[in-house]
Amino acid sequence: MIITGRIMPPALAALQEQCEVQQWNQAVAPQVSQLAEWLKDAEGLFVSTNIAVNEELLAAAPKLRVIAQSAVGYDNIDIQACTNRKIPFGNTPGVLVETTADLAFGLLLTAARRIHEGWDWVRAGKWQPGFQLPLGVDLFGKTLGVVGMGAIGAAVARRAQASGMKVIYNNRRPRPDQAALNAEYCSFENLLTESDFIVVLTPLTPESRGMFGAKEFARMKTTAYFINAARGAVVDTQALYTALIEGQIAYAALDVTDPEPLPADHPLIKLPNILIAPHIGSATTETRNRMALLAAENLLLGLAGKPLITCVNPEVNYR
Ligand code: GLV
Ligand code: GLV
Repeated sequence: MIITGRIMPPALAALQEQCEVQQWNQAVAPQVSQLAEWLKDAEGLFVSTNIAVNEELLAAAPKLRVIAQSAVGYDNIDIQACTNRKIPFGNTPGVLVETTADLAFGLLLTAARRIHEGWDWVRAGKWQPGFQLPLGVDLFGKTLGVVGMGAIGAAVARRAQASGMKVIYNNRRPRPDQAALNAEYCSFENLLTESDFIVVLTPLTPESRGMFGAKEFARMKTTAYFINAARGAVVDTQALYTALIEGQIAYAALDVTDPEPLPADHPLIKLPNILIAPHIGSATTETRNRMALLAAENLLLGLAGKPLITCVNPEVNYR
C-alpha cells in the first residue's frame, strides 16, 4: 500500500498493522514518475488531494484494487478512469460536516464583525482613546444564500438561522427535505441578487468551474459578503479581485483559493476587504482523525475484497 503524504498517526498505525506500507514523507508531493515507480506493485493507494489520479497514473499501477482519500472533495480524481479499471474510490463524507460548517460560518461571522482586523489593531498598539475601527455589519435579519446545499450547507444554514438570518439556496434541484431545512430554493441568478451573504459549498466539477465570474459578481449587492469554503477554482480569481477593488461587492472570506497555496505576494492578499484561511475547513484533531480512519478503513475493506463504507463509484464497489 502506498501513502502519498503525511496522515494522522492512528490511521497510519491501523494500516501498518495490516499491510506493508510505503509512505511519501516530504512536504512537496512526489513527481508523477516517482509515484509511478512506487505504484508498480501497489494494491492500495491512500492519495492526497494535491495529486491527480488519472488514466496515466493508473496505467502505472496494474495491481491497484482500491483508492481512498481523506477528504470529501475528489476533483483531483478521474472517477471514470477508476471505474474503467474496476477500482473503487472512497472519500470521507459525513464525518467532517459540522466541523466544516463551523469554519464556513466562522469565516462569515469573523468577516462581518471584522474580528481579525480588530485583533490586528490591538496587536499593533492602536487600541487607544478615540480609536476608530472600521464598523462591521449585522447578521440578524439578513439573507444568506447557500450555493451547494448538501450536508455541510444544511449545517451552515442551521448556524445562520440561530443568528436570525433568512436562508435561501441554489442546487441543481430543490432538496426533498426543503421544509425541514426551512430554506427557500431559488434560481442562481436570484440568489446572487437577493443575498447579503453568499456561502459557496458546491463541489468542483466541469460545470461549477469558474461559476463565479465577472457577470456573477456584478449581479451581487455592493454590500454583499462572499464566502468560499468549497474549492478555489469555482471562482474566477481575477474577477473576484476586480469585484473587491471596484466595490462591486463589499468583502470576501475564503478558505480556498486558486492557486493553492496562495503565493505570499499574491494581489488578493494585499486587499483590505478580504479574509483568507489556508484551507482549514476540516482541520480539527478530532475530525482529521475521523477522516483518516475512514479512509484507512475504506482501503482495508477494498484490499479484503469487501465494499467500501463511502464509495464514490458504487458500480465497482466490492460486494
Ligand atoms: C477538503 O477540502 C475536503 O474536500 O474534505
Ligand atoms: C458532506 O458530507 C456533504 O455532502 O456536503
